[in-house]
Amino acid sequence: MSATEPTRAGARRVLRVLVLNGPNLDLLGTREPTIYGRETLGEINAGIAARALELGVTVAFFQSNHEGALIDRLHQRDFDAAIVNGAGLTHTSVSLRDALLAVERPFVEVHLSDPATREPFRRVSFLEDVAVARFVGLHARGYTLALEELALRWASGLIPARARDVEAPDG
Ligand code: DQA
Repeated sequence: MSATEPTRAGARRVLRVLVLNGPNLDLLGTREPTIYGRETLGEINAGIAARALELGVTVAFFQSNHEGALIDRLHQRDFDAAIVNGAGLTHTSVSLRDALLAVERPFVEVHLSDPATREPFRRVSFLEDVAVARFVGLHARGYTLALEELALRWASGLIPARARDVEAPDG
């Protein structure tokens, strides 16, 4: 599968994915390992980067414990699609949802655990009805499945190429 699509100019353009992780995910590895596993965020990101290389996708990573910082990162709009683990903000943040809608980029919602099987307050997601897909309870595999989903959508022409600043010549 190729994650490039022809641009209007005839050049081929690489899909750019932003991987956005919310509060407390910087503590993965030691944070409640029976729920979230023992992999650190750095290890998870390395796995995503390796899969991205195979798929021919460009990935950027951003984690913050601050809602506004996550929103500001989205406002940069320097990506075509996103993978979002909003962590606790998933269940509370109208603003994160609004930002994802405002920037008009498709995104996949990911959770390491399956929030639906945990406390009742985790059953609400402010993101799920606006995400193009959702992977929950699969730990790090959820992120690589999300990447594969976006690469497939890109190759099928389902994701618009948003900027023309990283076009590469054909070949
Ligand atoms: C989480 C699930 C959320 O309910 C929780 O607040 C997190 C992590 C997950 O990846 O399983 O911080 O998003």
